[in-house]
Amino acid sequence: MSFVWVLLGWRRFASLIIVGFLGTLTHMTDEAKKMKNVSSTEDISPPAPVAQWIGDSETGFLRLLDQTLLPSETVYIDCKDAESVWDAIKRLAVRGAPAIGVAAAYGMVVAAGKLADNDFRRQLAEAGEYLISSRPTAVNLEWAVNRVLGRVAESPDACPVEVRKILLDEALAIHAEDAEMCLAIGRAAAPLIMNSAAVLTHCNAGALATGGIGTATAGMYVAHAEGHQFTAYCDETRPLLQGSRLTAWELQKAGIDAVVITDNMAAQVMREGRIDMVITGADRIAANGDAANKIGTYGVAILAKHHGIPFYVAAPYSTFDMNLPSGDSIPIELRGSEEITEGFGNRTAPHDIKTYSPAFDVTPAELITAIITDRGVIDPVTTENVRKIIDA
Ligand code: MRU
Repeated sequence: MSFVWVLLGWRRFASLIIVGFLGTLTHMTDEAKKMKNVSSTEDISPPAPVAQWIGDSETGFLRLLDQTLLPSETVYIDCKDAESVWDAIKRLAVRGAPAIGVAAAYGMVVAAGKLADNDFRRQLAEAGEYLISSRPTAVNLEWAVNRVLGRVAESPDACPVEVRKILLDEALAIHAEDAEMCLAIGRAAAPLIMNSAAVLTHCNAGALATGGIGTATAGMYVAHAEGHQFTAYCDETRPLLQGSRLTAWELQKAGIDAVVITDNMAAQVMREGRIDMVITGADRIAANGDAANKIGTYGVAILAKHHGIPFYVAAPYSTFDMNLPSGDSIPIELRGSEEITEGFGNRTAPHDIKTYSPAFDVTPAELITAIITDRGVIDPVTTENVRKIIDA
């Protein structure tokens, strides 16, 4: 009798496994089918255009969304000279590594429009140096400037009018490619989001930080478009609050369940078991996978490790700096004291108090579960694997 029950029990157990397996398979096939639906960024509407070129290469200008005013006001600023582009990048009207790169590429067209024909190419190179000097950490800035200058160098006989056309074509290409790279990252990251009920992100590596659907948020947009319900915890991100002002704003606008927490709540929220995975962007990734991102990211990675939560970084290939062997040599931007002592107008520290304000930190590769790029997933994060994917 007991033998019969054991047999029946095993049968039931085996059938459960088979049903479960088939169920998972069907689910995965359904997800795979659904994933195919999101084939262009047009399938997901971005919250607001971050950067737009208005007009032609001779008289046109760069229109930027002023992100310092979000979420209260949606205001655009028109940049008609290199100084206004430099200023917009410096004061974070446009920010986020890929978006800075896009803005700087258009900034080169704007700058070229103001140069005298005499000694044009030398002045253009100087304009590039000038734009690069606006912010030091995001490598996408110098990558984009060097890319448009490289394109110009391919036409040594081109006159200034022709050079301005070349510059604009290349800036438009960088912008369009960035949108494509975001989508590729989104398609690679979406299965991770699909397996999660709640994700945590830091700062804004969203549509507002790129020419497309973001990097850290890209998988969220794709998974959401495919009907997956999940919660996105947004670290507020002291001191300039890109998490609450920007990420929460754009995710809420997209209909994603966004929850703002202050940075110092992340540990408790993880301890309560509310977070299944962390995903952030990056401003510069060294050849060994060490990744610089908004100040506070390193702390989040340590917390994730402690709580056994996977920590992912999402970034396009343009964020990798293969000249740097490790994150130790990534330049870290220092910001003005007023961002800490009287951010958004209210004084919150004594007058004349000393401050120290690094805007970025470096998360060592060993704390990163995988880096999701437009060229593939780097997992585990080693120098060899970074080279395999990025130099391919
Ligand atoms: O100072 P910011 O707002 O430019 O910092 C932005 C970040 O740190 C982002 O996380 C990073 O640029 C990734 S952008 C997709």
